Amino acid sequence: MLRHSFSYKGIPLPAEIYDPETIDFVGNRFQVLDDDAFTVTYPKSGTNWMIEILSLIWQQGDPSWCRSVPIWDRSPWLESPNALEKLKSAKPPRLISSHLPIQLFPKSFWGSKAKVIYTFRNPKDLLVSLYHFSKLANFLEEPESLEELLGAFLQGEVLYGSWFDHVKGWLGLRGRENFFCISYEELQEDLRGSVGRICRFLGKDLSDAALASVVQNASFQAMRDNPMANYSLLPGNILDKTKGSFLRKGVVGDWKNHFTVAQSERFGRAYQERMQDLAGTFPWDE
Ligand code: A3P
Repeated sequence: MLRHSFSYKGIPLPAEIYDPETIDFVGNRFQVLDDDAFTVTYPKSGTNWMIEILSLIWQQGDPSWCRSVPIWDRSPWLESPNALEKLKSAKPPRLISSHLPIQLFPKSFWGSKAKVIYTFRNPKDLLVSLYHFSKLANFLEEPESLEELLGAFLQGEVLYGSWFDHVKGWLGLRGRENFFCISYEELQEDLRGSVGRICRFLGKDLSDAALASVVQNASFQAMRDNPMANYSLLPGNILDKTKGSFLRKGVVGDWKNHFTVAQSERFGRAYQERMQDLAGTFPWDE
C-alpha cells in the first residue's frame, strides 16, 4: 500500500505526484491569505463533491465555471508542486484543496482569517471507496484484498497516515470561527440544507434559485456527466479509466456489501478504542 510513497514527519505521502521539498514549503513558507477557503479531507471522504459545491457557491450557482475548468484548476491541490504555481497566479478569493493532516498544514494559516471546510465520512465506506480507487489510480498500490487494505488502514499504513489521527486532529478546531465541518452523510441526507449552512459559514448570500442550481449541479449524476469534474480528462497513466469510474457509486452504507461480519467487528473494536473520546459525534455512531 505504501510502495510509491515517502514519509514526511511520519506521514506517508504519494511519491509519484508529490515531493518532500514541496510539503516542507507548504508547511513552513506558503502564504495563506485571509480570504482563502480550504477544502480539507482525508482521501475518499467527498473531497471533489465539496470542491464542486464550493465552486458553484463561488459563482452564485452559475455552472459555467464548473463546466469549463477542470476541478483541479478551480481548487488547486495544496501539496502538489504544479498547484503551487497555479495558486501564485490565482485571483483571490482562492479555493484550495488539501488532504494534509493538521500538523502539516501551513503555519501561516494559524494567524489568518482563512476558512477551512473539513468533510469527513464513515471510515468503512471510505475504505471501500479507497479499495476500488486503488484499482484505477496508478500512484496507489492495489491491495490484494479488502482484508489487506483494512489491516493497513487500521495501522495507519496508508497514504496520509491514520484516519483516526486526521479526523481527531482537525475536529480539534471545532468552535473556531474560521472552521466548519460536515459529514458526507449529512450532504447525502440534506444537500440543500447543507449548502445553506456552508453559505452561512462563508458569508455568501445566495438566492433560492442559486441554491437550487448548486444542488442540481453538484448532484452525483451531474458531476458524473461533467468531464471537468469526473476525472475523465486525466491521462490513463495516472488514472486507468478502463478499470472503473472516479465517481463510482456515491452512496452511504456500501460497506455492508463488502465487509464480512468478522471484518466489521474487527473494525468496530479498533474504532471504539481510538474514537471513544468523540463517541456520538458522527452520524454513523449508533
Ligand atoms: P465512492 O467510491 O463510494 O462512490 P474523494 O473526492 O474524496 O476522492 O471521494 C470520492 C468519493 O466521493 C467517491 O465515493 C465518489 O463517488 C463520491 N462522490 C463524488 N461526488 C459525489 C456526489 N456528487 N455525490 C455523492 N458522492 C460523490
